[in-house]
Amino acid sequence: MSELETLERTLLADIHAADDEGSIEAVRVNALGKKGSISELLKTLGTMTPEERQTRGAQINALKNTVAEAIAARKTALKDQAIAERLARETVDISLPVRSSPAERGRIHPISQIVDEITAIFGDMGFSIAEGPDIETDYYNFTALNFPEGHPAREMHDTFFFNPDEKGERKVLRTHTSPVQIRTMEAEQPPIRIIIPGKTYRQDSDATHSPMFHQVEGLVIDKAANVANMRWVLEEFCKAFFEVDQVTMRFRPSFFPFTEPSFEVDIQCDRSGPIVKFGEGTDWMEILGCGMVHPNVLRSGGLDPDEYQGFAWGMGLDRIAMLKYGMPDLRDFFNADVRWMTHYGFRPLDMPTLFGGLSA
Ligand code: DAH
Repeated sequence: MSELETLERTLLADIHAADDEGSIEAVRVNALGKKGSISELLKTLGTMTPEERQTRGAQINALKNTVAEAIAARKTALKDQAIAERLARETVDISLPVRSSPAERGRIHPISQIVDEITAIFGDMGFSIAEGPDIETDYYNFTALNFPEGHPAREMHDTFFFNPDEKGERKVLRTHTSPVQIRTMEAEQPPIRIIIPGKTYRQDSDATHSPMFHQVEGLVIDKAANVANMRWVLEEFCKAFFEVDQVTMRFRPSFFPFTEPSFEVDIQCDRSGPIVKFGEGTDWMEILGCGMVHPNVLRSGGLDPDEYQGFAWGMGLDRIAMLKYGMPDLRDFFNADVRWMTHYGFRPLDMPTLFGGLSA
């Protein structure tokens, strides 16, 4: 066998044995690279006689072409093989069930939902949100709100008191969101239109009371705010919140130290079925307390009662959440039971809006 035939066999065997793109490239460099075996042979062409060139030169060229083609073919085959392997490895079984994302499985607590709904309603009426601390001074929780020292109304609140500090002052867990009225009046100039959603605390626990609960407070102050304005705001709120066209409300005279006159507001409902229905029926349900801001409260907030007047209201959120969404026991709200949340919670991406529907 000639030396050229031996070289061809060896190279073709190498090409055949190459099993990835790296090794086939090595074979190519060995044969056809600058110092490759075939390239070396090609260099001898210049020193040949014309006759030699016709025979041996043609053989070397033929060898070069055969090897180059074999390498190209092997490269293509290896590439196809690599793609086929990758396709096999990355197969997706599209018949498997889709795994739900955390955003799908998570739930918004009904209280957060209610706060979002109320924010959407009052935001639409031009109100903004105000907040204050859960740990309050006796001054903001009581004194500034016209609860005189030793007044029996302080007892009505079943307050959680902290131990006295070095100055003898006893902080409290705020018993209502009303202290934020004073904090806002101190910080802002009228006209004021705010709602104050937040946590509140009283020593009370049964199926409809929890020591930590939630309220939303409202406060409007300007030069002419009056009871008729208050009635309109509260009626519009109730219609939007309970998602009915018409509500009948009843304003009963009541007492709060921080309002004068004060009212308790009942809303007409039908309690004959398993779920309370609003906007119809012959029953009444108390939903909030309200009134015209007491002149002493305006003074505490640094406002002149001869120049400004306003109205305020306060409402328990947990109870109206129970009413609106038919949850029987308030204590379940705070048990962190995933089954309860899965049942009563709301989808995180369904934000309540007035145009899109509050609870839809
Ligand atoms: N702070 C009262 C409570 O906790 C609720 C309330 C009643 C707030 C009348 C008000 C109001 O702003 O005007 O029971």
